[in-house]
Amino acid sequence: MATIVESSEVSTLLDELTRMTGREDPYPRYRRLREISPIVRADDGALVITRHADCLAVSRDSRLGHIPSHMLDFVSPGWPDHPALKQLFTSILALNPPDHTRLRRLVNSSFTARRVQALGPRIAAMVDELLDRMSGEVDFVEAFAFPLPATVIGELLGIPEPDRAQFQGLVRDWTQVLETHAPEALAVADPAAVTIREYLAALVAERRRQPADDLISALVAAEEDGDKLTEDELLTMAGLLFIAGFETTTNLLANSVVALLHHPAQLALLREDPGLAPAATEELLRYDTPAQLLVRVAWDDVEVAGVPVSGGERIVAYLGAGNRDPERFAEPDRLELARADNAPLSFGGGIHYCLGAPLARLEAQIALPALVKRFPKLDFAGVPGRRDSLAIRGYTNLPIVAA
Ligand code: HEM
Repeated sequence: MATIVESSEVSTLLDELTRMTGREDPYPRYRRLREISPIVRADDGALVITRHADCLAVSRDSRLGHIPSHMLDFVSPGWPDHPALKQLFTSILALNPPDHTRLRRLVNSSFTARRVQALGPRIAAMVDELLDRMSGEVDFVEAFAFPLPATVIGELLGIPEPDRAQFQGLVRDWTQVLETHAPEALAVADPAAVTIREYLAALVAERRRQPADDLISALVAAEEDGDKLTEDELLTMAGLLFIAGFETTTNLLANSVVALLHHPAQLALLREDPGLAPAATEELLRYDTPAQLLVRVAWDDVEVAGVPVSGGERIVAYLGAGNRDPERFAEPDRLELARADNAPLSFGGGIHYCLGAPLARLEAQIALPALVKRFPKLDFAGVPGRRDSLAIRGYTNLPIVAA
């Protein structure tokens, strides 16, 4: 039976994960943590789990959830006065049932597989346009990995093309609250959240007058059993989709390119066989996921990773670690694009399973084969800049030779 281990080695390993040295390559540290115990306690009291089966179970367990609204005041005092936090805490990403259930049903009815699949040809055209503009030494993040998801989500929601560019900086500013609620971060994130919301409010008003074939119009019309989104809920939902659609997919694309460049034989396989793209995307999501962790609170006494855990305890599930668990994946540190049975934990699980997973997958499945095919001499042109963040793993810049 596992026991919750607290030790100086655990503290050191977890501390390293919060620093650049650990962020550069967290995987050996995850492995060591798992060897020490499947469940360890961090210095701040949180329980940390690293096994695949345990991460999956935690993501699916209805006795674990997000911090209940009435407790948010203790965790983030004054949060309703901060537009960026209000946007986060009142969105489906942070809500619990029954509020989550209701909103998720309403958005599910609009954000359909059909709507995502229909974007395929547009995504392919956008990929070609971006690749056309790349030549010689370029920053892959700036030239491709950021603009592609930004344009796709703009297109999906129905944001007119000339308006899209202004949002890149705004969304970056807002997403700071996913890492920290420190005053410096809020000073940047709050005005960004206000600007985005005001823009979306004007767009929603326009779509109410004149509906179009886009997600904003579908959300305006969404109705389930006589229930509809209020104006406030609609703006929060549109804002969340907008924000969630940017950063994670950007990092998936950049992490994937780095992984492929480090594994030229695998890259060559994808170049020769674009049909490998769906399996390759799953493997790349597994190998180096942009979303490294989930946080949950136990509402009741439960068992996690084989040990009893009391109600009120905080649990951090390292998806990035579970994705490299040798009990689940043979030779987990090997990138093998054609790997069978490679379903990653990267989109979470249970009721909060990523709403945008089909879209993120589709973007990567179209973009990655097109990129490696277009540039037969694709290579690093310098050292990539690591993003200084634990929850979202990616690069600030990625110099490549596009030739
Ligand atoms: C590679 C890209 C992506 C990754 C790795 C990713 C990862 C995740 C994960 C792990 C969660 C679960 C969070 C939790 O349980 O606490 C999540 C939720 C969510 N994601 Fe994604 N995501 C990606 C792309 C997208 C895109 C493109 C969109 C929107 C267009 C999106 C929208 C959402 C939303 C709305 C939720 C909240 C769902 C809920 O709580 O019911 N994501 N995502």
